[in-house]
Amino acid sequence: MKTFWRTHNCGELTEKNIGERVTLCGWTDSDRDHGGILFIDLRDRYGKTQLVIDPKEAKFEGTTRPKTEECLQIAGTVRQRPKGTENTKITTGTIEIGVEKVILLSASQTPPFEVVKSQDTNEDLRLQYRYLDLRNPAVQKNIFIRHKMYQAIRRALDTENFVEVETPILTKSTPEGARDYLVPSRVSQGEFYALPQSPQLFKQILMVSGFDRYFQIAKCFRDEDLRADRQPEFTQLDMEMSFIKEEDIFAVVEKVLKSVFKEVLGKELQTPFPRLTYQEAMTSYGSDKPDLRFGVKIVDVDALVKKTEFKVFKEAPYVLGLCLPKMDASRKDIDTLTEFAKSEGAGGLAYFKAEGGKLESPIAKFFAADILEELRKKFDAKDGDLIVFAADKHAKAEKVLGAIRLHVAKQKSWAKPDTFHFSWVTEFPLLKWNEDEKRWDSEHHPFTSPNLEDWDKHKPGGELQKIRSSAYDLVLNGNEIASGSIRIHSRDLQREIFKTIGLEEKEAESRFGFLLKAFEYGPPPHGGIALGIDRVITILLGLSSIREVIAFPKNQKAADPMTEAPSPVAERQLKELGIKLR
Ligand code: AMO
Ligand code: AMP
Repeated sequence: MKTFWRTHNCGELTEKNIGERVTLCGWTDSDRDHGGILFIDLRDRYGKTQLVIDPKEAKFEGTTRPKTEECLQIAGTVRQRPKGTENTKITTGTIEIGVEKVILLSASQTPPFEVVKSQDTNEDLRLQYRYLDLRNPAVQKNIFIRHKMYQAIRRALDTENFVEVETPILTKSTPEGARDYLVPSRVSQGEFYALPQSPQLFKQILMVSGFDRYFQIAKCFRDEDLRADRQPEFTQLDMEMSFIKEEDIFAVVEKVLKSVFKEVLGKELQTPFPRLTYQEAMTSYGSDKPDLRFGVKIVDVDALVKKTEFKVFKEAPYVLGLCLPKMDASRKDIDTLTEFAKSEGAGGLAYFKAEGGKLESPIAKFFAADILEELRKKFDAKDGDLIVFAADKHAKAEKVLGAIRLHVAKQKSWAKPDTFHFSWVTEFPLLKWNEDEKRWDSEHHPFTSPNLEDWDKHKPGGELQKIRSSAYDLVLNGNEIASGSIRIHSRDLQREIFKTIGLEEKEAESRFGFLLKAFEYGPPPHGGIALGIDRVITILLGLSSIREVIAFPKNQKAADPMTEAPSPVAERQLKELGIKLR
């Protein structure tokens, strides 16, 4: 790759180039001194090339001995490495450069950590010196994968007639459930823009405008508590389509992900992805984002155990069970698991061990033999299995067993590494009860269409919890990676929904008036979805934090140790904005 400064890059030269005079540029990766001869690995984005420098022969400009992370230009001749010194792990491993000239392009301070080992360093230090951290090929790799993924997404969606449209960053609040980041206006003092929590309202308006198929690789901003899979600013693959049903959206997303997997990982994805309803996910796995890389379903034993003399079960609102395979659990294992269950809110953890074709437990004495046998069959328990129970309110029992399922799966490595299990979870409830504020909230967002049959059936009687919506999530290995819905396209129904979630007419008008107004001009039936790009890449690469796949992420305190944002501003700036700090 010839440019003004170099004839080749550091990952390019092979035995084919032996004898050629070349010029390379890059950074000193590592250096060794063997009896006065310097061996330096010169590194750039493309790879590493071994330089051999005899200080008595080579000419030096600006340096007499290059230090690590200094930026060099070198000239020399490509030659075969001596037998036995080849490095088969790198493409340039059979050659080296006999260096004739070394020019220091720019010097470097001693780095605060060794670049190629940056991932072992304290994260804030890495982020403070992110430019050095990003020199590490292992860190750069994630950013290259991200780039490749973007290209694959754009190609796939262009083929499907999607148009990429940018929507504003300085805008108005979008209700995605987090706090807004606000930007004060200088021109209209006392007024604020909100950074978008998503492009939700704009993409719906683009449907009103007849764009039919929109996408954007969109930055979203949410001021919420951070976790390993959350950043205050993150990226969505945001999409919206007109004249469609769920199926159409699922098909497009599956197609895009198939292309991404093929082009980025060289893997063939099986589509269509399996589907399950929210209800099925909760009932069988105690989670709305079930990890389906392994089975192990929750079993409803309520009716059966109510026939026994065991008080804990008889008096409980509901009893569910889970058969954990091949546990060979000791007393201590069971105690530890009970502690875990309690930490998840369980009252205790009744259990049976399957042994010698029978179920054994201190509580077995309360169970008639035929019921024990029926239980064993219901769980299909084999010797070594451990059946555990949660006796509680139905939702709590599901949650506890769902948590135990994941906890044990992790401990026992039930999920095969390098497997990717996608599933669609559909028919989420429309509303959830907000106990603190004693009102209903949207489960997804207030533009999600209810299941219209459910709405007509349950709305009049106020059984709002029974109303399903057309919202869906895409789940990958137990993580929610995308979320979307069919939208409301009737102005009246939209108003009804706002009213149901306690949004006064006046407030709805002031926050979303522009959308309601747009809905007066022939909005098409439409729907869409947004994929959390950072999360997808993190999972694809088997990483534990989304910060690894973002070039300049924020730390756990939503700060950037490199730029030191957020930071105080000058009094003069505040004055211009008409702001006085409290
Ligand atoms: P939602 O809020 O579910 O839907 O977001 C969609 C996806 O974005 C990812 N995500 C995040 N990733 C990193 N950090 C965060 N703080 C964060 N928050 C969300 C998740 C999630 O599944 N407008 C709707 C989409 C629609 O209805 O079309 C929306 O934003 O992977
Ligand atoms: P106890 O009668 O409290 O000694 O409990 C008998 C067994 O039932 C113990 O194994 C407890 O861990 C278990 N247990 C108690 N409460 C619950 C509950 N809510 N769900 C499941 N098991 C329980």
